[in-house]
Amino acid sequence: MIIKNKNIFHLQGKHVSYIMAVNECGDLLHYYYGKKLRDRSYEWVKQKWSVWNGYGPDKWTLDICPQEYPAYGYTDLRTPAYSIVNKNGGTVSRLTYKSHRITENSAQEIDGMPCLFVGDKHAQTLDITLEDQNAGFEVIVSYTVFDEYDVIARSVKIVNTSDKEITIDSVYSTVLDMPKDNYELIYFSGGWAKERGMYRSAVKQGVKIDISNARGGSGHNINPFVMLASEGADETSGEVYSMTLVYSGNHSTMLECDQFGNVRLMQGINPFGFEWTLKKGECFYAPQSIMCYSDKGIGGISRELHDVMRQNLCRSKWTNTERPILINNWEATYFDFDEEKLLSIAEEAKNQGVELFVLDDGWFGDRNDEETSMGDWNVNLKKIPSGIDGFAKKINNIGLKFGLWFEPESVNPDSDIYRKHPDWIVHSPGIEPTQSRFEYLLDLTRDEVCEYAVNAVCNILSSANIEYVKWDMNRPMTDIPYKGFNHKFTLGFYKVMDFITSSFPDILFEGCSGGGGRFDAGVLAYMPQIWTSDNSDAVKRMEIQYSTSIGYPVSSISAHVTAVPNHQNGRMTSLKTRADVAYCGIFGYELDITKMSKSELEEVKKQIEIDKKLRPLMLNGDFYRLENPYKSNYCAWSMVSKDKSEAFVMCAKILSEANCEEKRVKLQGLDPNMDYIDEYTSNVYGGDELLYNGIKPEFGLYDFSTHIIYLKKYNGEIR
Ligand code: GLA
Repeated sequence: MIIKNKNIFHLQGKHVSYIMAVNECGDLLHYYYGKKLRDRSYEWVKQKWSVWNGYGPDKWTLDICPQEYPAYGYTDLRTPAYSIVNKNGGTVSRLTYKSHRITENSAQEIDGMPCLFVGDKHAQTLDITLEDQNAGFEVIVSYTVFDEYDVIARSVKIVNTSDKEITIDSVYSTVLDMPKDNYELIYFSGGWAKERGMYRSAVKQGVKIDISNARGGSGHNINPFVMLASEGADETSGEVYSMTLVYSGNHSTMLECDQFGNVRLMQGINPFGFEWTLKKGECFYAPQSIMCYSDKGIGGISRELHDVMRQNLCRSKWTNTERPILINNWEATYFDFDEEKLLSIAEEAKNQGVELFVLDDGWFGDRNDEETSMGDWNVNLKKIPSGIDGFAKKINNIGLKFGLWFEPESVNPDSDIYRKHPDWIVHSPGIEPTQSRFEYLLDLTRDEVCEYAVNAVCNILSSANIEYVKWDMNRPMTDIPYKGFNHKFTLGFYKVMDFITSSFPDILFEGCSGGGGRFDAGVLAYMPQIWTSDNSDAVKRMEIQYSTSIGYPVSSISAHVTAVPNHQNGRMTSLKTRADVAYCGIFGYELDITKMSKSELEEVKKQIEIDKKLRPLMLNGDFYRLENPYKSNYCAWSMVSKDKSEAFVMCAKILSEANCEEKRVKLQGLDPNMDYIDEYTSNVYGGDELLYNGIKPEFGLYDFSTHIIYLKKYNGEIR
């Protein structure tokens, strides 16, 4: 709900209030963000902010004021939300309130980029137009608030109202000026095979922290999701604010703690390498950033974001539909396969209950290694003599759906498409372009290149019964020809992805980027699941899936059981541990199932039966993290159905210890007044007992031992 009371705007979500005010000088100032407040006049806010004896012409200074969209160099000398070279060549800017508009049940309109949609929820959008009359531009700051959620989605549009060109040097999508407190910044950093590690640092006066990425996609190294937490906030307690950028290009989250200890947190396109020129009348849209607030710790943020993303971000009809259990041939065969080999894998997988066979890299051109044919999207008849259509039919005849891997944005120099169009790649004139994984990136800022990518993929998709696509992208962006290129490329990527996914609405798309290098809300808008990491080791996955689940729904976290020794880190884990960790995710296999023993195959069959029962819960339950593997020798999490009648719990002991403590794991989210039966052991518990006394997982005396529990509401007698 949005309440406009004189010069005060009060946005109320489910449990949250966000209040801002226009003061006498026309500045849009921030007053409050946090637990829901009753609506009052808050008139005194305006007076308080008018009496400061500052150095501006109005005898007051913005340097000490919390603001909604601050400029630099007028009277605020902190890092600004934007920087624009105006029609006169200067950069000093002052934005003042011009007008506002409140729209019922409408999402933000962000040209060319994904954002939250309203769906069946009640939402309102507030657009406040701020103007810089001297400089000749307007900034429209937009806020969407949902009655049912604790999120506020923000975006920004800049319009050149002058008769000359203006140049945007930086434009953040969201700004949060927070009063002094003992905050901690939590962010997610890593690299290939170790994506989204969880880091936490105290925010001290004077620090300026730039959580940013300039690697082309949203990146393995830094995820565009951060949290600002009250000191010591944990999974269940403390105030936490988060920001999620709905964007897949270079991004930045900037934190500055000023001379008074006040904190400014901003999120948007990375200003580094960015520049955008607007001709007279033109406008620029910055991507959406979703703010979320919880007074129930980090877990509260996660459950809220999971709901919001599942209901109001992911557009695919698969979002709330049970996903097929797949087998992918990548770690089974790499490039070394033929039809016979693939069909033998498919047949054995079908025998155990798998539902979808995915043919990964290596099916096109003359591709037998990473060095050739990327971009030549025609089937390699030497490997697949039946062609894609014929092969898909063979897979269908086995009783499986068929899925295919693509990397639409890349080409190898050794490819027909590159030989024909060497100028189509991202390059800087006069400089030999760099290769990464023997690839160049296609220049998606050019319409004809986007058209090629769309046609190449669509032709294959319409030629056969393809029901799943894995969309990969395996290299960072180098040789960037000009400032602002990365954003233009990202818009091209969205255009291509939008066209292909909306042309084939029945296909289940999975995002991927050298593992989890583009795990972001922008991709999730089009594809409901993303390959989480090339690191498929169950123990590393405990960390990766634990921290990924903080910002993204479990229904987006693709998780496969792979062979041991693990191909990425050589670790040996039991088949049980590997599956137990993968259940809280989109479950599948990625190994040569034909090499498994009879007893292993029997185990696989049971695992698939388990997952088939669990998967509806994984799509829409509430996720609770119970033991943090970053901090202890244990990892535990659980998924609880919305009506609390069903819950799945996974507990892991990482290293085995002799004579160690008796571990108890207290569950969360259950109904204390309900009784529950563990379907795996038939043990019966009271909900209160599970919550307050916890369970004692039965760990084996070996490393990486896991214990799973599947609780169902129990109406019988307590035994
Ligand atoms: C990337 C993906 C893998 C696999 C390979 C194929 O690394 O993350 O899952 O698809 O590419 O080349």
